[in-house]
Amino acid sequence: MTGKIVKKATSSVSYDGTTDEQAWHRQETLRALKGFSRKRRNLIPILQKVQGRLGYLPLEAMKEIAGFLGIPEIDVYGVVTFYNQFRLNPPGKHAIRVCLGTACHMKGGYITLDAWKRRLEINEGETTTDREFDLDTVACVGCCTMAPVTVVDDIPEAKVEPTKVDGILLKFKLERESEEQKDQ
Ligand code: FES
Repeated sequence: MTGKIVKKATSSVSYDGTTDEQAWHRQETLRALKGFSRKRRNLIPILQKVQGRLGYLPLEAMKEIAGFLGIPEIDVYGVVTFYNQFRLNPPGKHAIRVCLGTACHMKGGYITLDAWKRRLEINEGETTTDREFDLDTVACVGCCTMAPVTVVDDIPEAKVEPTKVDGILLKFKLERESEEQKDQ
């Protein structure tokens, strides 16, 4: 599940066209590489560590890792796209994880997943353009009596059918509006 991720501003661009965010990705990747030897077998543990720091694996991070291990960038990209555990997109502020374990599947987990896709206008593995939500699936999260389950920011929500999807999104919308009002 996605943890809390520190986001960096994307507005500032340096003389060489690098944004603050890209520079931060490089810096965090270099920090994550400390302690690893330059062996190709370290590729997956390195990718896991970098994703743990950044929340996903941006291009700059993959380039740094390829350079560190002395392997072609395409090899790093190939591994990242092969395994479901790796993300190519930045995580959203809120993580939506639809359970597709057996019990949830039997109780309509795919219908719930479709509802989330339609409401958020993204597919699984993607993030909304405002970076508010990302959507993914998980296997059984151990709350089968509550099926179909959607885990929202690490909290399992019970019996999430399409109408409940709307309710959860409405709650987030109201929270956001009240925060915006406080800021004014
Ligand atoms: S199958 Fe979904 S919680 Fe067990």
